[in-house]
Amino acid sequence: MPANIVVGTQWGDEGKGKIIDILASRAQVVVRSQGGNNAGHTVVNNGETYKLHLVPSGILYPNTLCLIGAGVVLDPKDLIGELDGLQQRGISTKNLKIDPRAHIVMPWHIELDGLSESFRGNSDIGTTKRGIGPTYMDKYERCGIRMFDLVHPDILAEKIKSTGMLKNKIITAVYGGKPFDLDAVIKEYTAYGQRLSQHMDDVSVLTFEADKAGKTIMFEGAQATLLDIDFGTYPYVTSSHPLSAGVCVGTGVGPRMISNIIGVAKAYTTRVGKGPFPTELNDEIGDTIRNVGGEFGTTTGRPRRTGWFDAVIVRHSVRVNGLDALAINKLDTLAGIGTLKICVAYKKPDGSVIENFPAALEELAGCTPIYEEADGFNEDISKCDSFDKLPENCKKYIARLEKLCGCPVKMVGIGPDRSQILER
Ligand code: GDP
Ligand code: IMO
Ligand code: MG
Repeated sequence: MPANIVVGTQWGDEGKGKIIDILASRAQVVVRSQGGNNAGHTVVNNGETYKLHLVPSGILYPNTLCLIGAGVVLDPKDLIGELDGLQQRGISTKNLKIDPRAHIVMPWHIELDGLSESFRGNSDIGTTKRGIGPTYMDKYERCGIRMFDLVHPDILAEKIKSTGMLKNKIITAVYGGKPFDLDAVIKEYTAYGQRLSQHMDDVSVLTFEADKAGKTIMFEGAQATLLDIDFGTYPYVTSSHPLSAGVCVGTGVGPRMISNIIGVAKAYTTRVGKGPFPTELNDEIGDTIRNVGGEFGTTTGRPRRTGWFDAVIVRHSVRVNGLDALAINKLDTLAGIGTLKICVAYKKPDGSVIENFPAALEELAGCTPIYEEADGFNEDISKCDSFDKLPENCKKYIARLEKLCGCPVKMVGIGPDRSQILER
């Protein structure tokens, strides 16, 4: 005790990695429970930047146990690259443990992600092409390959042969693509298994025991609420449950373990990939936010779409995650923008007003945001050392977001570094 969950409240990239890294200084265990290397979590410490995709954002602390739970989909090649990169920078990765139940992203998953996106043409989802959707499809189809299989060469070879044959058939017959040489895949993935076997351990048991021993646990959400397969902007979503509730099934712990749920938001909104974005700014202000905020994807480098803060979606996140607190990052990016707008509700084509995020895109499509204005600020706040010392307009803006979202703002980010956080 306590066990804290950190989740994204918008469309991802809210600065979850930074918040986890800060809170991990007071924790002994950090757990990833869903998603895969579609995530890109940035941690900045003393000017050193680390971009993490699969490795939990507690890895910079040498004694913190970093766990990858059963609900994660794991690309072993990418993970090994990430581990090598960290080790080259003097970061120990010996405390990383991976649950045997985690599903493995195989090369055909990545191939099929790309092929199905191309096949969709203009109706593509804009995925990260990391094979995430196809890996979760196989998990639920009950033909996936898991971490346990990866580290057992005989089982792995058998599964690669049977699954690979079917995948090759789909790739060639449906998409006209090139088949995989299954013997080469067996050789390559057996080597990955041998390298990663030292990291395999039961994450459900490790987490349960850490909790019983009174250790502090951080669950690190990847993606975000509006990318949730059920509660996001379906079908422009990812294939897992980034919600707080996803943590329990993705780790193998009961909901009673959880003591605190923190939602991370930006002081504005961004989205990478396709799909609806009611408060999107396709103008100079949007460009300024993108350039000043460095809004380019951590995983794919794509420019992020930018827009005003949308209290409708964050209210939705407060409800579906049961948030206890909000952390609002990147307030510093809004300096000098002029008058700020906040979306408080949506207006439907018939003139009626809705305050809750609609369930279907067709309903959302006709909606326009209803804005209220807030006075902006020009000061450089990046070196401010307490919330009370922020310019009055910053404090008013945060107080307004807090009121509109119905959740206390406990942390405010004023820069990318570990030190640039104001706690309340
Ligand atoms: P995540 O996926 O939620 O972990 O977020 P990303 O790392 O993909 O994107 C957040 C970006 O914003 C990263 O480049 C962070 O270094 C940066 N960042 C986080 N918090 C702040 C902040 O308060 N101010 C500024 N200027 N940058 C921040
Ligand atoms: P973090 O953890 C932002 C988006 C993709 C695409 C959709 C589906 O860094 O916040 P997928 O590859 O998951 O099938 O793509 O989801 N997406 C993210 N957007 N941040 C992320 O992670 C994302 N992970 C997936 O851009 O729109
Ligand atoms: Mg990210």
